[in-house]
Amino acid sequence: MSDVMPLPDEDIPRFADIVSRAYPGFTYSKQSYREETIERLRTMQHEEPSVTFYGLYRDDELLGGMRVHNFCTNVRSTMINAGGVGLVAVDLIHKREHVCKELIEHFLAYCRTTVRPLAMLYPFRPDFYKRMGFGYGPLLNRYSLSPAALPANKQLGGVRYLRPEDKNALVECSRRYVREHHGMVDKSDHEVRQMLTSDDTFIACHWDGEVMDGYAHFRFARGHTSLVNDIEVLEFAYLNKDALRALLSFLNRQSDQVRRIHFNTHDDFLHFVVDDPRDGTDDLLHPISHPTRRSGVGLMYRVVDAQLMFDVLGSARFGPGDCSVKIEPDDSFLPDNTSPVAVTFRNGRASHCKCDVDVTVRLGIAELSSLLMGTVTFSKLRAYGLVGMSDPSYTGVLDAIFRVNEGPQCATSF
Ligand SMILES: CC(C)(COP(=O)(O)OP(=O)(O)OC[C@H]1O[C@@H](n2cnc3c(N)ncnc32)[C@H](O)[C@@H]1OP(=O)(O)O)[C@@H](O)C(=O)NCCC(=O)NCCS
Repeated sequence: MSDVMPLPDEDIPRFADIVSRAYPGFTYSKQSYREETIERLRTMQHEEPSVTFYGLYRDDELLGGMRVHNFCTNVRSTMINAGGVGLVAVDLIHKREHVCKELIEHFLAYCRTTVRPLAMLYPFRPDFYKRMGFGYGPLLNRYSLSPAALPANKQLGGVRYLRPEDKNALVECSRRYVREHHGMVDKSDHEVRQMLTSDDTFIACHWDGEVMDGYAHFRFARGHTSLVNDIEVLEFAYLNKDALRALLSFLNRQSDQVRRIHFNTHDDFLHFVVDDPRDGTDDLLHPISHPTRRSGVGLMYRVVDAQLMFDVLGSARFGPGDCSVKIEPDDSFLPDNTSPVAVTFRNGRASHCKCDVDVTVRLGIAELSSLLMGTVTFSKLRAYGLVGMSDPSYTGVLDAIFRVNEGPQCATSF
């Protein structure tokens, strides 16, 4: 019998030890690093109201834990509450004893009871969490562009470093960007504090008078000698074309000292801002294609309550096409989440279906999650044999309804 509960302060060191062995890559064995981590966990637990650490106990012994986040996320132009889970860690001695399974079950139950129909995580292995019903989110692209290839514009100024007193302007700029972009998550106080106080990252921001309308959050990455450096852009947000151009021009001006600018972004189109999008490897792909970025599966989404998800998406934006559809989700991990949901799509809005449905579709909860978030299209799921339907002639209509203008972006790591 397990108990999952908020981690009491006195168990933080024990959890830190479990984390140290679960994530050996954190070079955690050093005592100073251990103390720093305990302090970091404590600070987050005490000072960030949107975060709670949980521990799983059997016979009063802590066997594993996780960090749960309360998020507010833009889904198809509507802000909804969502849950995030990170730092899942299980004592090596107790692996394969369903500690993680029970932690995730608890997390998903928490999401349901707190009206967070969407859960998110970054997987250590996508297959592990896909079995638990998490679907692939957007591909993270790492563009490696030459700074000289970025558009320069000597006329454009207005870029300066972020100062501590700019905090409110940064929060407001980020808040506006989140509301304009599907998938983005509101920044927590902790995240903003980290951005403002980090020793090794910098923020160049663009101003339109008193209003910040764009920023690039970046750090340097050392090359093969101390005089060869790259810049890694961790977040790139702009509210208009001028802010974009000015920030790109700022990065272009680093070309005498910086070899490559690596943009980590969910934007699939960034290569359109340059005339030369090559990543510098010259590693030609068959027949003649120039590598411009590396991509990876990262963020994963999971609908934890399909009915609730459509309820909260009442004012969300769907694509054109009128259709009433019965969705039958297959969710072996969360059997409570398998009730059919009948939805009418009309004029880009979803509502409860009060009439006979036109078509019934059956698909796994992971695929439904990706479809709702717009990281896969209905017709692709159909082509891959991942969705069944009572009447295939509705494929095109459903494809248009579930499409998003732009795939989800997310600059929040957790
Ligand atoms: C990865 C890690 C979290 C796994 O923890 P664990 O407690 O050993 O995992 P579990 O025993 O709960 O294994 C998952 C179980 O869920 C089951 N499961 C998964 N999907 C299921 C589904 N849809 N229905 C029923 N059961 C399911 C699996 O079958 C497995 O049980 P089994 O071993 O009996 O087959 C742990 O090894 C760890 O801490 N690793 C290092 C840190 C890390 O990488 N964390 C993850 C960060 S995101």
